[in-house]
Amino acid sequence: MYYSLDKIELHKAEPIILGIESSCDETAAAVIKGRRILSDEIASSAKVQAQFGGVVPEIASRAHTDAVAEVVERAVKNAGITYEDIDAVAVTYGAGLLGALLVGVSFAKAFAYALKKPLIAVNHIRGHLAAAYLDEPSLEAPFVTLLASGGHTAILYAKSDAEFEILGATLDDAAGEAFDKVARVLGLSYPGGPNIEREANSGTANIPMPKMLKGGGGYNFSYSGLKTAVINYCHTKEQKNEPYSKADVAASFQAAAVDVLVEKTVQAAKEKGVRVVTAGGGVAANGYLRSSLAKACEENGLRLVLPEKRYCTDNAAMIASEGLVQYRLGNFAEMDLTAKASIPLAATLETVQSRAAKKAEQR
Ligand code: KG4
Ligand code: ZN
Repeated sequence: MYYSLDKIELHKAEPIILGIESSCDETAAAVIKGRRILSDEIASSAKVQAQFGGVVPEIASRAHTDAVAEVVERAVKNAGITYEDIDAVAVTYGAGLLGALLVGVSFAKAFAYALKKPLIAVNHIRGHLAAAYLDEPSLEAPFVTLLASGGHTAILYAKSDAEFEILGATLDDAAGEAFDKVARVLGLSYPGGPNIEREANSGTANIPMPKMLKGGGGYNFSYSGLKTAVINYCHTKEQKNEPYSKADVAASFQAAAVDVLVEKTVQAAKEKGVRVVTAGGGVAANGYLRSSLAKACEENGLRLVLPEKRYCTDNAAMIASEGLVQYRLGNFAEMDLTAKASIPLAATLETVQSRAAKKAEQR
């Protein structure tokens, strides 16, 4: 072992965790102390990527390589701490672009090894879920959480900090993916989600969208029918040479895509009898989703913990926050840690669950 296990205080009141994230086009590093954010740095290659209409993996990897050391150094400096003060280094090991992830993982391994600090492997999706802890330091499970990112969309029941149950999930595309695809159809540039939102702000949701999204199917939902409906609407108008309002299409799509998530999340919270709802992932930065979810929670007597927009999209503070959960469980990674391009949502949740159960048994 390259560090001394008995020096680790799992119950330390406020461990200092350095988080590193490089799964897509953002190189990010952040330092938290307990659930308090001390620093939060991001270098993004999104502007360069926009010229290509999406993320080019090779460009992302190179940008991470150029930025990672400087971003981490800045995070430590702006946190007002020294390297010695760090209790653990948490890094995203999946899911994401393999080459991009490898940059963060390799850097974190070298950094942790050199400083003789424990390393924590963080699943990106669980990072999105853990963003809520930073927004509300007193937040404790149980709660129901809406996860809506570019890769996953699901409604989850958090039984404890480490145990999640999937109540429902998308049967096809993730919500963010649907926003990105519809943006392309409307000729809006990458990243699609924020551009759809901007366009929708000057439109009206007056175009009928497929009803199949609502009701039925338990807590599952589907986005492919909605996406096809938008494509068909636009193509039919174009073929007939009829003008149509991009803003109205954006607003109608946004309402259909978001309403089902809000409705099912609130239903799930009521069925599970929880008092608290949280949300995370890039789509949770959407203004219409935020206001609809806030309204629905208020009407149903539920407390909503909604991370600030910048902590819904990719960032390293959420990785540090999940790092803290794993730190408390004593889940440390070895130096043979490697990046994983995909980790199925169910497998991820089960793995953590069984590790937590094992720890409990050992006690
Ligand atoms: O969580 P995230 O930053 O990265 C992943 O882990 O996937 O989510 C990115 C997704 C993209 O599909 C993006 O279009 C979407 O979140 N997104 C939005 C908004 N901001 C980001 N979707 C709708 N409205 C937004 N304001
Ligand atoms: Zn993400």
